[in-house]
Amino acid sequence: MLVFLTFALWLLGGLHGALGGILPSFNPLVRSTDLMQTATSLGQQLSKDATIILPSNPLWDEVIARGSYPRVNPGYFVVVEVATESDVQKTVKFANSNGIPFLVVSGTHGWTKTLNKLQGGIQINMRKLNTSVVSKDGKTATIGGGTLQWEATSALFNQSKQAVTGLCECVSVIGPLLGGGHSMLQSQHGFALDNLVSARVVLADGSVTDVSASKNADLFWALRGAGHNYGIVTSFVVKVYDIPAGNQWTVYSLIYKSDKLEALFSLVNKIDAPSATRPSKLVLAGAITRIPDIDAAQPVIAYTLSYEGTQAEAEQYAAPFKAIGPAVTTVTTNVNYVQLYTVTGNNLENPVCRKDNNIFGSGISLPSWDTAGLRKAFNVFAQASADPRFSTSAILTESYGMNGVRAVDAKTTALAPEERANPILTTPIFWWEGANPQDATDAEAYAAKIKDAMYSGVTAAGGKRHTYVNYAMGEESRAEMYGYEQWRMDKLKSLKSIWDPKNKFRFYNPII
Ligand SMILES: Cc1cc2nc3c(=O)[nH]c(=O)nc-3n(C[C@H](O)[C@H](O)[C@H](O)COP(=O)(O)OP(=O)(O)OC[C@H]3O[C@@H](n4cnc5c(N)ncnc54)[C@H](O)[C@@H]3O)c2cc1C
Ligand SMILES: *[C@@H]1O[C@H](CO)[C@@H](O)[C@H](O)[C@H]1NC(C)=O
Ligand SMILES: *[C@@H]1O[C@H](CO)[C@@H](O)[C@H](O)[C@H]1NC(C)=O
Repeated sequence: MLVFLTFALWLLGGLHGALGGILPSFNPLVRSTDLMQTATSLGQQLSKDATIILPSNPLWDEVIARGSYPRVNPGYFVVVEVATESDVQKTVKFANSNGIPFLVVSGTHGWTKTLNKLQGGIQINMRKLNTSVVSKDGKTATIGGGTLQWEATSALFNQSKQAVTGLCECVSVIGPLLGGGHSMLQSQHGFALDNLVSARVVLADGSVTDVSASKNADLFWALRGAGHNYGIVTSFVVKVYDIPAGNQWTVYSLIYKSDKLEALFSLVNKIDAPSATRPSKLVLAGAITRIPDIDAAQPVIAYTLSYEGTQAEAEQYAAPFKAIGPAVTTVTTNVNYVQLYTVTGNNLENPVCRKDNNIFGSGISLPSWDTAGLRKAFNVFAQASADPRFSTSAILTESYGMNGVRAVDAKTTALAPEERANPILTTPIFWWEGANPQDATDAEAYAAKIKDAMYSGVTAAGGKRHTYVNYAMGEESRAEMYGYEQWRMDKLKSLKSIWDPKNKFRFYNPII
């Protein structure tokens, strides 16, 4: 009761102000009185734990806060915090019958500019669907559609289990998964999406269905790689793996000065060469960034070698990296899968998890490092990061390992085959403060130059660009994100006409 009363007060207090701001881009056919009536009736239909938040509510700023703000700033006039699957269905039906667009939000860290096309919409906030429950047989877990990575990893860890999750605590489990899901565990078990067993999906018309290899198999295919385009996942089942007692990771943090650039990435090429046998427990990642204490003049390379095992086991892989001569070497041992997020600098308190700060990346997938292109990219980055606006920016140089990923036939999921082929994911990431659109334009121009340089080897050899869909900045071609095979794009489109004919799910790197 209390909830509903508060809802009604917010509605009365807030709708007027809200409509003032959104009416120009809002469906002109919907009159405000109608809207208020229908919003009231939506509130009455939802479960007792659901909340409806209007702009007049003191919580408004908190619920619309997101990563990459204000560069990414979808226009909402109301936020619905759903608490049950049925709430999701009712909200979608409400939106449809009133001609209002909607966007589902979980971790809020999506950074593609295409999200800005949502205006005058409903935010369907999934955060109350945040449970992670291990099945009785211990082989799978059911995860809520709004669960963040830290919630899932800590709940599973408590039961000596782990799942293929991404590297950052504050990102949702489902957001990365629907477009791939790069992980410290991908070389062992494939991408996050390769571990999806089934999902409950609210479709564009508000109906709900089970999706798996045996039920709606075509939608299951599309969900795994182009999932943001097909529905709202309210809960999903993923494979989980036993964490053996005493299991530990060893993490080497190696900081190199820029004169080691070619030597370092030539070594990575050797490790990832088609003829090499890279162990699945070896994870390589890094960032080209400014650390003035190490080098006041030039960016450095902060490189991380992680190994699921003891230091004695890891040492043979670390030795050639040490031989290159890092300026600083730090080794952390006895790290468990939960602590790994902190040791690698991806925990909740880390600046990477900040909201209300502009960020975007522009993902570049490469078959191997072209050291000449890399040096050109480095030089552009040196110039960009000397610009005080972008001094905390970075170029990520990720190489998590591909064994588990390549074990899956690319035809069996919607994920672009390039994502399974290319071992290198390198991404200029720009951070900056404030709302000056010129800053975004300048950052994107630097990123485009870095991208051109990184791809120069591929382009010279007649190859095509591929971008990880979850690292797209919002200007890439569809083929660049979803793959160049015609049959694949045709299939995605035809499935769209079956499952979402009115293209309700069109705001996250749309395929139509
Ligand atoms: C700090 C940081 C770390 C990252 N780390 C990784 C990583 O380790 N591995 C990796 O692969 N990627 C990573 N990414 C990229 C990440 O995959 C995308 O940014 C992703 O979109 C974030 O999902 P989210 O739920 O946090 O964001 P949101 O903005 O809430 O969601 C992004 C989009 O996903 C869709 N969506 C959200 N919830 C649902 C749902 N329940 N059902 C259906 N659709 C839904 C919506 O279209 C939404 O616009 C990272 C990004 C950042 C900013
Ligand atoms: C997680 O879900 C519970 C139950 O719905 C809810 O009360 C809680 O607020 C959620 N957590 C967050 C951080 O939203
Ligand atoms: C894990 O277990 C500990 C001790 O039983 C408990 O305090 C904690 O809340 C649990 N965490 C999760 C995420 O379940």
